Amino acid sequence: MASSDQIKALLKSFIDKDDSHFYSVIMQVAASEAQKGHIKFAEELKQLIDKARKEIPLSHIATERVPIPISQPRGELSNLLAVSFPSYRMYDLVIPKENELRIQRILKENRHLDKIKSHGLDSRRKLLLIGPPGCGKTMTASVIAGELGLPLFTLRLDGLITKYLGETTQKLRMVFDLMTEQRGVFLFDEFDSIGSNRSLLNDVGEIKRVLNSFLIFLEQDRSSSLIISATNFPQSLDHALFRRFDDIIKFDLPNSRQITQLLKKKLSNNVFDAIDLELLKKNMKGLSYGDITSICDQIYKEIILEGENAMNDQKAVSLIKEKSSFKKTV
Ligand SMILES: Nc1ncnc2c1ncn2[C@@H]1O[C@H](COP(=O)(O)OP(=O)(O)OP(=O)(O)O)[C@@H](O)[C@H]1O
Ligand SMILES: [Mg+2]
Repeated sequence: MASSDQIKALLKSFIDKDDSHFYSVIMQVAASEAQKGHIKFAEELKQLIDKARKEIPLSHIATERVPIPISQPRGELSNLLAVSFPSYRMYDLVIPKENELRIQRILKENRHLDKIKSHGLDSRRKLLLIGPPGCGKTMTASVIAGELGLPLFTLRLDGLITKYLGETTQKLRMVFDLMTEQRGVFLFDEFDSIGSNRSLLNDVGEIKRVLNSFLIFLEQDRSSSLIISATNFPQSLDHALFRRFDDIIKFDLPNSRQITQLLKKKLSNNVFDAIDLELLKKNMKGLSYGDITSICDQIYKEIILEGENAMNDQKAVSLIKEKSSFKKTV
C-alpha cells in the first residue's frame, strides 16, 4: 500500500495537474512495493505507467482545451507523415533558461496567432533545432505540440526521396498544402540525413531539388502551422536555409546542474537513499539527456525485478559505464 505521504503527493500532483510528478510518485510506490516482495504488483504499476505515458494522447490539462479536429493524413500522405498527439509539457524538459525563454515566446506568439495576424504580422512558426543526439530536439517539437494542443506530424526527407524518386517536390507540396488545411506542428526530423545518407549520394540532383523546393515552400508558407526542422549537423546544411527560419535553437549536452535536474525528475527520493547523487553526476558527465534517461529507466527496472536493496552506488556506476561503452561501440 502507498504511504500516507505518497497518497498526499498523488493528490497534490493531481490538483497541480503535474503529470510528471504524479508518474514519479507511482514509481516510488512501485519501488517500495517491490522491496516488500510484491514484485507482480510493482511490475503491473510500472507497466500501467509506461502504457499511460505512451498512449494517453492528452493529459487532463489538455482535455480542458477546445479539442482540435484532427484529420489523419489520407492517401499518399499517410505514407509520408507519422501523426501523433504528444502529451509532453514544458515541465518535462530540462533546458537552459535562455532556451526556455525562447520556447515560451514561441508558445505565446502561437497561442495568440490570430491577434498577431490581425496586425499584419506573423508569429515565430519556422524553427530550426540544432544539437547533438539525445539532447531534446525531437522532444521539444513534441512539447510545443503538447503545449499548444496541436497534432505533431513527423516527416523524414530522406524517406521522401528514397520512396518517391523523381516526384519528391510534388509530394513535398502536398505536405505544405496540408499545413494550410490542418493546423499542426510539422517536424522535418533528422534534416541532416538528407545530406549524409549514402544511399542518396547518387541522387545529388534530386537532393538539391528537394532542398530548393523546401526553401521556396518554407518562404511562401502563410499557414498557421509550425514548421520545425531538427538536425545534428548544421554544417551539412546550406546556409541559405538559416535565413528562412524565424528562430534557431541550439541544444547541448547537459551540464552538472542540468544532470541534477534531470535525475531529480527521473528518480524518486528513495532511490537517492540507495545511491549517492554526486557520484551519479560525476560519472554521467558527457552523456546526453537521452542516455541519462535510459540509465534511470534501467535503475527502476533493476529495483522492480531485484528489490530496492539490490541497488547501490557500485551497481549504478556499472550501469552508467555499460551505457558509456555501448555508446562507443555504436
Ligand atoms: N532536455 C531534455 N530534458 C528532458 N529529457 C530529455 C531532454 N532531452 C532528451 N531527453 C530524453 O531523451 C530522449 C531522447 O531525446 P530526443 O529524441 O529529443 O533527442 P534528439 O535531440 O532529437 O536526438 P537525435 O538527434 O538523435 O534525434 C527523450 O525522449 C527524453 O526522454
Ligand atoms: Mg530527434
